[in-house]
Amino acid sequence: MTTTRPADAAAPAEHVRAHATVDPVPAGPALSGRGLHLAYDGHVVAADVSLALRAGTVTALVGPNGSGKSTVLRALARLHRPGAGEVLLPEGDAAALDTRAFARRVTLLAQSRPVPGGVTVREVVAYGRHPHRARWRGTDHDGARAVAHALAVTGTAAMADRAVDELSGGELQRVWFATCLAQDTAVLLLDEPTNHLDLRYQVEVLDLVRDLADEHGVAVGVVLHDLDQAAAVADQVVLLHGGAVVSAGTPAEVLTAADLSAVYGLPVEVSTDPRTGLVHTHPVSRHAARRPAVRRPEPVPVA
Ligand SMILES: Nc1ncnc2c1ncn2[C@@H]1O[C@H](COP(=O)(O)OP(=O)(O)O)[C@@H](O)[C@H]1O
Ligand SMILES: [Mg+2]
Repeated sequence: MTTTRPADAAAPAEHVRAHATVDPVPAGPALSGRGLHLAYDGHVVAADVSLALRAGTVTALVGPNGSGKSTVLRALARLHRPGAGEVLLPEGDAAALDTRAFARRVTLLAQSRPVPGGVTVREVVAYGRHPHRARWRGTDHDGARAVAHALAVTGTAAMADRAVDELSGGELQRVWFATCLAQDTAVLLLDEPTNHLDLRYQVEVLDLVRDLADEHGVAVGVVLHDLDQAAAVADQVVLLHGGAVVSAGTPAEVLTAADLSAVYGLPVEVSTDPRTGLVHTHPVSRHAARRPAVRRPEPVPVA
């Protein structure tokens, strides 16, 4: 995927340009939320949440069901208006951009989407190019290449001419992911992108996420339920609970036995793989104490 940044992303303000010693590229996060208060019909579900997504960095949002992960991601994508606080791009308040300009910068793979009827996979993936088309009879010079690339890397090229309403949950999830990739944004927000996927595609999606950050400088914010996957893919982990940030930092700093046990409400043990250095989490089942480590079937006597 080629991540072509819109020219305005790095455009310095006039007064900055006048001073040759000042770095013309805006410093700081590619997208951030500052002091976000989020509510549904007056019912507060997130209070004073701040987090920053940086270029070339994968940030995993983790936490129990209902902790506010999806709502925070939707607020960062400007799909949920904060009661207080701001969503910021490097040049300032994200609210200043019109919808199409914002969609050239930030895309969201939502947790669930309505499935359009009678539309092919290729057409759905091409929707991702919409913000790049000029408003009137516009051509999108990178469009065909971006769509073909998105189909190829998500393994959906072979189903490009099938109707999306005939796909399995896993196939559909890969098509939505392809649509986000075709949008070719510098910030990629993914809400449980491994949902419905078998093991191979879970690994492929997370590998692709890592490639996008490492090779194309994309800032990724990803909600993951699997804490070991979060530890493996993320540079930074943000742990949410009850609509508040409990901790943020490296996987080893955030995924601690004490915090995870408190937040998830069951004992969680944490170890570090000496070979890879990766954090592994082990929730302790109520049955763990009375279960032998390895169950071997009783040998069946041979008559
Ligand atoms: N559309 C909605 N209307 C009302 N309440 C909602 C809506 N969506 C989510 N909530 C509530 O907001 C809280 C946070 O939800 P959500 O952000 O989906 O959490 P998570 O993604 O961590 O599971 C939950 O209590 C949930 O019930
Ligand atoms: Mg959610």
